[in-house]
Amino acid sequence: MPDLHFPQGFLLGAATAAHQVEGDNRGNDFWRSEMLGLFPERSGEACRHYALFREDFALARSFGHNAHRFSLEWSRIEPSPGRFDDAALHHYREVVEELRRLAIEPIVTLQHFTLPVWFADAGGWLAPRAAELFGRYVQHVASWLGPRVRFWITVNEPTVWAKHALVLGHWPPHRRHDWRAAARAILALARAHRRAYAILHRIQPDAWVGIAHSAPFVEPARPRDPRDRWVAWMRDLALNRLPLALFRRHLDFLGVNYYTRALVCWGWGGTAPLFGRDWPYPHGSTPRRFSDLGWEIHPEGLYRQLHRLARLGLPLMVTENGIATRDELLRVRFLEEHLAAVARALAEGVPVIGYLWWSLLDNFEWHCGFAPRFGLFETDYVTFARHPRPAAFRFAEIAGQRSVTAASEAH
Ligand code: FCB
Repeated sequence: MPDLHFPQGFLLGAATAAHQVEGDNRGNDFWRSEMLGLFPERSGEACRHYALFREDFALARSFGHNAHRFSLEWSRIEPSPGRFDDAALHHYREVVEELRRLAIEPIVTLQHFTLPVWFADAGGWLAPRAAELFGRYVQHVASWLGPRVRFWITVNEPTVWAKHALVLGHWPPHRRHDWRAAARAILALARAHRRAYAILHRIQPDAWVGIAHSAPFVEPARPRDPRDRWVAWMRDLALNRLPLALFRRHLDFLGVNYYTRALVCWGWGGTAPLFGRDWPYPHGSTPRRFSDLGWEIHPEGLYRQLHRLARLGLPLMVTENGIATRDELLRVRFLEEHLAAVARALAEGVPVIGYLWWSLLDNFEWHCGFAPRFGLFETDYVTFARHPRPAAFRFAEIAGQRSVTAASEAH
């Protein structure tokens, strides 16, 4: 099979999020819930990345990364309403400068799930002033970091946040089955995004501004069964088409977070009847493979999703893709197969500009705690040492050659 190539300038790296790696993020709503015992584990020192970012970026560089996605912790930058903390802003400026010094393109997420407690207490995304308050923060950050950053991601996975915070109740404000609130929150996040988009472009006309959209590939389990087709259509509408329609006109690129396919069938899945349930059986002639979190491994879904999303007519960046596993061979295969899927779409004209692995390090996986292992580097939570996994070496090889063999893509 021929090699598939990534063009010169293609972004290859990894992603993290502040609360999952930095440690001691005491000012946000997740920390508060952790202290109240509403999470099975506390983030605590996480990976101590706030102190160790230089070492972590040096590792990324020596393993061939030329891009890195990370998030700013709003609660550090604006610990109380309208009061901005220079030390935190200075820190993030150093983070960006360090990446630039290493020739690693910074991709900056302004908001990755966690909210300052004062903002959460004022109603969070459901408060009438949410977009305005977010805009004030964005304005301040953009003036501080300014032209050092080219790629901005305003908000991470609005649909995932709404699901966990307002429907399943795992995340603050821990509401359950509040579908109306979930819909309102997604609308509010879109408003906040639009405001941030305008602010960023005012301050920095050549900025590339996007969101990171969770883009599961939805398919009916029995394509000939109209009921399965109907729930798949509904689920894709709710998770992909409607949210994207809200953001579409204010995007310079779309961040695509892809982990899995949703193979769905008619039936009661525990949340909403319209969305059916996940197909619990093997499928067709191919055995299905799953991660430690029970997410189906399906590289073909990434390939097909990129083709679907190409219809939006925007540059696409894979802003998250990865696997929670303790099986290192499986992690390497996952990496190869998904990169081959990206390269194949690219070769067919889909405008993909980058691929970021989730995650650089093992980290705090929200309500699943520290057990899931997503890192290219293993984090030792006692010594805080990082150890490269086989996938880190494979990543370096692929990045060095800027090619991946098509043969390694199995369906
Ligand atoms: C995504 C989140 C990210 C991480 C991965 C596994 O939904 O954006 O923070 O938790 O899943």
